[in-house]
Amino acid sequence: MIFETHAHYDDEKFDIDRDELLQRLPEEGVGYVVNVGASLSSTKSSLELAELYNHIYAAVGVHPNETAELNEENFSWLSQIADKPKVVAIGEIGLDYYWKEPEPQVQKIWFERQMALAREKKLPMIIHSRDAAKDTLDMIKASDGGSIGGVIHCFSYGVEIAKEYLNMGFYLGIGGVVTFQNAKKLKEVVEYMPLDHMVLETDCPYLAPVPNRGKRNSSMNLKYVAAKIAELRKISEEEVIEATYQNAKRMYRVV
Ligand code: NI
Repeated sequence: MIFETHAHYDDEKFDIDRDELLQRLPEEGVGYVVNVGASLSSTKSSLELAELYNHIYAAVGVHPNETAELNEENFSWLSQIADKPKVVAIGEIGLDYYWKEPEPQVQKIWFERQMALAREKKLPMIIHSRDAAKDTLDMIKASDGGSIGGVIHCFSYGVEIAKEYLNMGFYLGIGGVVTFQNAKKLKEVVEYMPLDHMVLETDCPYLAPVPNRGKRNSSMNLKYVAAKIAELRKISEEEVIEATYQNAKRMYRVV
């Protein structure tokens, strides 16, 4: 069974067939899905999906580029809903300097607050870090993020940065990008890292793997990601699927 660790099924691109698609996932070999909040409204939708479907869990949090919407009042709402039974993580949180919106200083304030929230609630973190390798790493180290744990989602840096996170005990999320021709750095990371800290993710509706690159992504495409990882590591696809499934259950503490 496949464990999908990062999806956005609340996205409007799924409005036309969401229910049908989500119902079908277990028959298609996808045993669990974590739907990840990226704003206050998508956090709310993630919770609603988790309440509707047995095989769906929720992560609650605000993406760095959406942090301008946060204030003390809605942050306290976020803190309250983090206690709901099907919430398994705080995320996605972090820093994104590709889009410097809002300014880094604001992103940093709310990244730190959401890390503290994860610590308080004893939940793992889903970290989003784009074009912000140094600041993300510095902030996680300064907050002793290794003792909170979690996943570096859509890992996009090289082996050196991978080592830093693996040494702190973090998992690395591997998705469709690994199937892209030009993803040399990521392929090196996939070959290098220990299998017991790897998890599968789509970030759907985005980042569909080859042979569906450019189309709407869904968890059903994770078999292509698993096949590419198997090829790179010279092991079987079943071994990749089984190991990443166990890793994700351990990381999100889903039993
Ligand atoms: Ni995402």
